[in-house]
Amino acid sequence: MCGIVAYIGPKDASPILLEGLQRLEYRGYDSAGVAVVAPVTKSAPAKLRLCKVKGRVADLAAALPARFKGGAGIGHTRWATHGVPSDANAHPHTDNEGRIAVVHNGIIENADELRAKLAADGAVFRSETDTEVLAHLVAAHRAEGGELEDAVRAALKLVVGTYGIAVLDAGQPDRIVVARNGSPIVLGIGEKEMFAASDVSALVRYTRQVVHLEDGELATVRADGFRTFTEDARTVTRQPSTVDWEVGSYDTGGYAHYLLKEIHEQPGAVERTLSGRLDERFATAHLGGLNLDARELREIRRVKILGCGSAYYAGEMGAQLIEELARIPAHSEPASEFRYRNPVIEADTLYVAVSQSGETYDTLAAVQEVKRKGGRVLGVVNTVGSAIARECDGGMYLHAGPEVSVASTKAFTSTVVAFALLALHFGRIHDLSPADGRRIVAGLKALPDQIRQVLEQQQEIEALAAEYAHSQGMMYIGRVRGYPVAREGAQKLKEISYVHAEAYPASELKHGPLALISPELPTVALVPDDELLDKNLTALGEIKAREGRVLAVAHRPIEAKHADHCLVVPKSEPELDPLLLNIPLQLLAYHAAVALGRDVDKPRNLAKSVTVE
Ligand code: F6R
Repeated sequence: MCGIVAYIGPKDASPILLEGLQRLEYRGYDSAGVAVVAPVTKSAPAKLRLCKVKGRVADLAAALPARFKGGAGIGHTRWATHGVPSDANAHPHTDNEGRIAVVHNGIIENADELRAKLAADGAVFRSETDTEVLAHLVAAHRAEGGELEDAVRAALKLVVGTYGIAVLDAGQPDRIVVARNGSPIVLGIGEKEMFAASDVSALVRYTRQVVHLEDGELATVRADGFRTFTEDARTVTRQPSTVDWEVGSYDTGGYAHYLLKEIHEQPGAVERTLSGRLDERFATAHLGGLNLDARELREIRRVKILGCGSAYYAGEMGAQLIEELARIPAHSEPASEFRYRNPVIEADTLYVAVSQSGETYDTLAAVQEVKRKGGRVLGVVNTVGSAIARECDGGMYLHAGPEVSVASTKAFTSTVVAFALLALHFGRIHDLSPADGRRIVAGLKALPDQIRQVLEQQQEIEALAAEYAHSQGMMYIGRVRGYPVAREGAQKLKEISYVHAEAYPASELKHGPLALISPELPTVALVPDDELLDKNLTALGEIKAREGRVLAVAHRPIEAKHADHCLVVPKSEPELDPLLLNIPLQLLAYHAAVALGRDVDKPRNLAKSVTVE
C-alpha cells in the first residue's frame, strides 16, 4: 500500500530516501514526503526539516530545498486511506513543535478517539490522517522524559490497529525507532550505516543483509547497529538473512514499462517455479515445504483456495487443475469475502492461501480465521518471509522474482504453475496414472519455450490492441478451463486500460449478456482445441450473427464466419492450456493501455499491496 524508508549514517540522508521511495513508489503514489534531522551546529541544536507534497516522488524531488541536509531521515510514499491525497495529508506527520516525525503504513482504528483526547490536551492537528495521532502521542510521552523508544512503546500501547512505522526525534538525532504490527518493516545492515524500509526493494541497492521484524516488535536503529525488542521492552535477538533478489530486478531493464518487462520475464519465472521440483522418474512433483506427509495428504477430502483479485482467479485455475489431476473437490473463493460468512472449517479440508506480495490484508485475515478454527493452511506466495508466508503451516514459494508493476502477470503465471505441481503431487498419491503424470511433467517442462513463442507475437497483438482499445467495452468468454482465463483477461484489461470488460462463461451468453452484443462491444473468446471446441464455435456464430466483432485466442486458425481475428497459441496438455491462453491477453491489455495513454505501471486508484481491508 504505502512505502516507508529510513536511513541513518554518515551520508546525506535525502538522496538515499528519494532513491528508496522511487523503488517503493509502486506501492502507493498519490503523495510523498521526507523528514531529516539537520545536523547540530555551534549556534543551533538539531532540528527537524520536513518536505512533503501531493504527487509522485519526482514531484517531491523537485520540491526539495537545495540545502535539505541531515544524516538521519525517514520517507514515505502514500496511497490514501484516511483523507484525500494532499500536501497536508502526506507523511511524515509531526507534533505541535515539529520535533517528532512519523511515517506510517496501516490503519489506526481508534484514531478518532485518540485525536479527541489529544486535541483536548492541546495537540493541533494539521491533517485528516490517522497517522498524525501517533506523532502527538509520541511527543506527549517524550515530554515526560525517557528515551524515544520508551515514548514509542508507550504510544503504541494506546493504539488499536495495524502499523509499520518509523519515528524520528530532533531531540535524539542518533537514532530512528521503527515498529511493526501487521505491516512489514525490514532493517538493512550497512557499513557504519543502517536502513529500514517496508520492503526490501528499497534496500537492495545498499545492502543484502536484512532483518525482518515480527509483529509486536520494535527496533532502535543507529548508524553503528540496531537493537530489537518487544512492546514490553524485552530484548529479542534477530539474526540477519541475505536477500537473493538482484538490484536489476527493480529496473525496467530497457523495456518501456515494468509490466512489459514482467510479461517477458515469464519463461524464466516459470523455470524457477519448476526448478528442482519435477521428478521424471516417478512422474510426480517434489514439494519440500508442504510440511505434510503422504498419509496426511491422502486424508484430505477437499481443497479450498483463498486469494484476492488475480490471485483468486489463479486459484480458480488451480482448483480446476486439482480436480482434474487429483480428483479432489477444489474451489477458489475471494479471501476478502471468506471470513465474513463465518465459514465452516473442516479438518479434512486443505486451505491454500495465494498471494504474490504475501501482505494482502484480506488474505492474511482469512488465513488467521482458518487457523483460529483449527484448519491447516498452505501458502502459495512469491515474497519470501512475508506475513502470509509466515502465518501458513507450509507451502510453496513461487520464486518468480520481484513483481513491481501493479498489475500481476508473472506471479499469476507462476502461481498457476505452482498449482499444477501441487495437483500433480496430489494426483500421483491418488489415482493419476504414471503415464498421465509423465504427460503433465513433459507439458510443464515445455511451457517456458511455448511462452516464448507466444511472446514473439507481440507486434501482431499490439496492432490488434490499437484496433480494439477504443471500444466502448469488451466481453471475454471461455468455457470450463477457459472461463478463469476470460476472468483474468477482463481483469487485466480493465485495471490498466480502464476499458470496461466483463467475463462470462460462453455457455451463459444466451441467458442474458447476448443482449449487450453489438459492433461497439467486441468479444475476446478463448477457443482451445478441446472437447468443447464445437460448442465454443457455436457461441461465436451467435455473436457474429448479431454483428459482434470477435477476437479469438485458439490453438488453430478460426474461420472468418466465427471470428474477425485469431491469435494462435501453442497447444499444451489440455489441463495446462489455460496458462498459455492467458499470455496474449496480458499483451492485449498492456498494448491497449499504452494506446490509450494510460499510466501502465501505476493505474489510477490501485496500489500493489493492499495491506488494509
Ligand atoms: C491484479 C492484481 C490484484 C492482486 C490482488 C492480490 O493484477 O494485481 O488483483 O492480484 O490485489 O494481491 P496479492 O497477490 O499480492 O495478494
